[in-house]
Parts: sequence; structure tokens; C-alpha cells
Amino acid sequence: MNQPQWIEVDRYISELFVANEPAMEAALAESVKADLPAIAVAANQGKFLQILALAMRARRILEVGTLGGYSSLWLAKALPPGGRLITLEVDPKHAEVARGNFARAGVADRIDLRVGPALEALPKLVEEDGGPFDMIFIDADKPNYPRYLEWAVRLARRGTLILADNVVREGQVIDATSKDERVRGTRQFNEAFAHHPGIVATALQTVGAKGYDGFAIGVVVEPS
Ligand code: SAH
Ligand code: DHB
Ligand code: MG
Repeated sequence: MNQPQWIEVDRYISELFVANEPAMEAALAESVKADLPAIAVAANQGKFLQILALAMRARRILEVGTLGGYSSLWLAKALPPGGRLITLEVDPKHAEVARGNFARAGVADRIDLRVGPALEALPKLVEEDGGPFDMIFIDADKPNYPRYLEWAVRLARRGTLILADNVVREGQVIDATSKDERVRGTRQFNEAFAHHPGIVATALQTVGAKGYDGFAIGVVVEPS
């Protein structure tokens, strides 16, 4: 089992299951054109997020880490009329690319893109009574994942689905002695998620076009 095979199988899956949507393709093309890092979720992963949002009948979704808005588009397209995605991005250049992509896809009216550090936007969301969200996707800077989880819980209700991307990092996550702040943040996040008394959580490894990584997923059963 090697990496070229993961990529081929991901292509097979995405060609089979993911309809060719010009606005989605354009979002990736614009991200490449603007020199954004190629770290958006894979197409089949984006659709996976969309399926979860549809299954939840999510009306309010929070995303931490927008980049060019590729995962945001998958989530926004799952929203019913009147639904809203709030997505947080620190880099104005990424946000600008995302805004263009939202407009091109015709979903700009459903998306509230907030530019600035997520750790400033999240307390503001609590202050303005912006919650509860039906689904929360954490995908920004890994060292802050434990803090993002704390805010996610504050913005959740019973039944809220909380997801986090990149929790395996090519297996580096099992290195308890790692000095890499991203690995340390991810490990702290996983431990807090696993042990949270109000959350039922697990994690899944993934391979494919985006390499070897994983998602953590949990549902809030006892809001705090
Ligand atoms: N969810 C996107 C990928 C996000 S990549 C997708 O799958 O399409 C991570 C993003 O988080 C980057 O755009 C990065 O600029 C942003 N980010 C990093 N630190 C942040 C912070 N402190 N607050 C908000 N966003 C941050
Ligand atoms: C990185 C961040 C991501 O959100 C991702 O999906 C892959 C890599 C990174 O910062 O390296
Ligand atoms: Mg990610």
C-alpha cells in the first residue's frame, strides 16, 4: 500500500461520488492562482462534511480556519434557506480569495466570514450570543486546537457535532515527546476531547490525496 495508490483511489472515489461542480473547481483553481497553501480538505472529505451537516439538518455552522473557502463551500451548500455559516480566518489574503469564491458559488449571502484571530472572534461570538451552533469544524492553527475546543463547547448545544481536521499528522500524533507545537496542540486537543465529560468523541485515520491524516469527531451530550 503506497501513497500513489491512495491518490489513485481518492481520484476514483471523487470521480464516482463527487459531481464536477464548476464553482468548487474554481475555488481550488483560484486558491492555487493566489498561491494559497494546498491544504484544503480533499473533495471526498468536503462532501463527507457536507453529508454530516445534511444529516444533522444543520442551520448554523461554525468553521475555524477558512483558507480559500473550499470546505466552507461544502458546508454552506448543506444549509437550508435562512441557514448560516460563520467562518473565521486570520489571513486577509486568504479571506479575500474565499470571498471571491463564495460570490462565484452564489452562497455569499449565507456566509459570515470574519477576518482576525479566531481567539478574538470566538469570545465575541459568545458575547453576542452567536451560538448555539449545530456543527463546528475546527481546522485552523494546530497549537490553538485545545483553546478552540473550549470555545466550541461554549458555543454548542446538546447534539452539536464538533469536528477537527488533521489530528493524525502522518502518525506524528503518537509521539508524546514531540517538540512540534502543532503535534503538542493536536495531542492536547485529542486528550481534552477524549476525556470531556459532556462529549462522546473518537478519531478516524484517513489516507488519500491529502496524505495520511485524520479527523476527530464528537457529539455534545451534556452541554456545560
Ligand atoms: N478549512 C479549510 C482549510 C483551512 S487551512 C479547507 O479545508 O478548505 C487553515 C487556515 O487557518 C489558514 O487559512 C490559516 O490562515 C488559518 N488560521 C491560522 N491561524 C489562525 C488563527 N489564529 N485564527 C484564524 N484562522 C487562522
Ligand atoms: C496544515 C493545516 C491544515 O489544515 C491541513 O489540512 C493540512 C496541513 C498545516 O498547517 O500544515
Ligand atoms: Mg486541515
